[in-house]
Amino acid sequence: MSRETEFPIHPQFTERWSPRALTGEAIELPTLLSFFEAARWAPSASNVQPWRFVYGLKGTPGFEAIFASLVDFNKGWAKNASALVAVISAETWLPHGTTEPLAFATHAFDTGAAWASLALQAHHAGWVSHAMGGFDAAVLRQGLAVPAGFHLNCVVAIGKQGDKAMLAEALQAREAPSPRKPLSEIVAEGRFSF
Ligand SMILES: Cc1cc2nc3c(=O)[nH]c(=O)nc-3n(C[C@H](O)[C@H](O)[C@H](O)COP(=O)(O)O)c2cc1C
Repeated sequence: MSRETEFPIHPQFTERWSPRALTGEAIELPTLLSFFEAARWAPSASNVQPWRFVYGLKGTPGFEAIFASLVDFNKGWAKNASALVAVISAETWLPHGTTEPLAFATHAFDTGAAWASLALQAHHAGWVSHAMGGFDAAVLRQGLAVPAGFHLNCVVAIGKQGDKAMLAEALQAREAPSPRKPLSEIVAEGRFSF
């Protein structure tokens, strides 16, 4: 079993995974927005909430703009997503009462927490979310008109899980929940001992 836990946890953590076989069916806007609602409640340093999400629904110019930035490997399967989402973060913030933007060190860390909430909410609702680092940031920035000062973290494909027979053979073999490192490789007491 690739997803046995060493300690009991809520099953949402092991039941969520990132399939690539997607049906391409339409997603209702309130459903998609509910995933961003979950992301909205993530914690962030000073409650700055640096995350920004730009989505495109399949069949719209917004979808095409995000899709165009993907590497060919991701284009091969993400074409069947119901929506594509660019996960963006603000690199600076304006502390209360100031006018000079300051570097915001945890923009990517905080936005990662928001993406995790999005992924879990999508899973709860019976949808798949699959993050992709394989995209051309310059193409995405231009396609979505993202200004300087905002970092493009990843693109997320959202869809309903489909039959893995629709995937190329090499991908069919990988279409399964993946294992994780043991706790002993990622947790230490008192001293960094990895
Ligand atoms: C930031 C990030 C970038 C990723 N990039 C890609 C990608 O470009 N293409 C892809 O097919 N999967 C990508 N993945 C999916 C990971 O491979 C997957 O999340 C990881 O293997 C763990 O599997 P799981 O999500 O099914 O639990 C990415 C995931 C993250 C979080």
